[in-house]
Amino acid sequence: MSYFRKNIEMMSGYTPGEQPQDGIYIKLNTNENPYPPSPKVLNAIKNAVSDSLRLYPDPVATQARQKVAEVLGTKPEYVMAGNGSDDLLSIIIRSFAGPCDKVIFPYPSYMLYKTLAELQDGDACAIDFTEDYTLPEDFIVKGARVTFIANPNSPSGTMIPPDDISKIALKIDGVLVVDEAYADFADDNCLRLVEKHDNILILRTLSKSYSLAGIRLGFCIAQEHLIQGMMKVKDSYNVDRLSIAAVVAALDDQKSMKAHVEKIKETRLHLKRTLQEMGFFVYPSQTNFVLARCMKGVSAHTLYQTLKSRKILVRYFNLRRLDDCLRITIGTREEIDALLKLLKELVSDSHSKVVHTC
Ligand SMILES: Cc1ncc(COP(=O)(O)O)c(C=O)c1O
Repeated sequence: MSYFRKNIEMMSGYTPGEQPQDGIYIKLNTNENPYPPSPKVLNAIKNAVSDSLRLYPDPVATQARQKVAEVLGTKPEYVMAGNGSDDLLSIIIRSFAGPCDKVIFPYPSYMLYKTLAELQDGDACAIDFTEDYTLPEDFIVKGARVTFIANPNSPSGTMIPPDDISKIALKIDGVLVVDEAYADFADDNCLRLVEKHDNILILRTLSKSYSLAGIRLGFCIAQEHLIQGMMKVKDSYNVDRLSIAAVVAALDDQKSMKAHVEKIKETRLHLKRTLQEMGFFVYPSQTNFVLARCMKGVSAHTLYQTLKSRKILVRYFNLRRLDDCLRITIGTREEIDALLKLLKELVSDSHSKVVHTC
């Protein structure tokens, strides 16, 4: 006999990307930033390591919300902080969806949306992106309580224009979560839609553009009535004192973040062009990674395994529409050149021995 709820027993759970603990890999598998966090952040954390750690943090992270509002040009009442955007996604699903409620998300996208819907015993509906990663007509589902869109999307790196997102917000019944984890690497974003739509929630994170995946800090921007309701659902102290200090300092140093984003965009272009010259199909990326589809006769899984055995970690998904692809995080120029050098050898070998057709 199982002690678990039936839906928990049935679900397989979310599998995060590999996080090897030996630290000797060129790590291009979980979309971390290859550059260090701002020295101002490290200083702020050091200063926050004090006697005051015996006290609970501010339950609503006021300083962090004020700083987010200042930098993004919104009001603190429109902002909620979370222990990474994954925490906010969990708060959102618990706030808006219960058993049997429809939860919509495109496929392939961030796999956590399905897990969250299953946790609630909701009706998880994955709707296929078109071949070129636009949303199909049937993406609007009547009665859906929560619709998730990662924009730009992972793992494709592609983006839906904000005008199209706005049209979706008007047509759907429930809330629309626009997960903008990668927005700082994109040409546009949906922040301006918050004032216009009372059902849009935008998610941002410090994990990618601010090089702070280890801190676990995300924030949600939405109209006050949504933020107020979600405050009832979050853990009392969901953001710790060190994270609050870090987010304030990180957002204060826009210069450092933007300089790193520019370098990543340059390397993204270099990686994309070189992969294309080698014969890969590369999806247009607005993120800090690219999705590259292997040419005929080359197995993505074998490439992934061989790269790993040579200490370069990229992401391989054994899933429909993705099993002939590699998702590659943009590292430093040196890391990407090391990857490309090895890939060139493997691909040119592919028709003889190392890499075989699936
Ligand atoms: C689309 C998307 N949303 C959310 C997250 C989680 O971000 P965080 O580190 O803020 O929890 C990720 C992480 O890779 C992501 O790709």
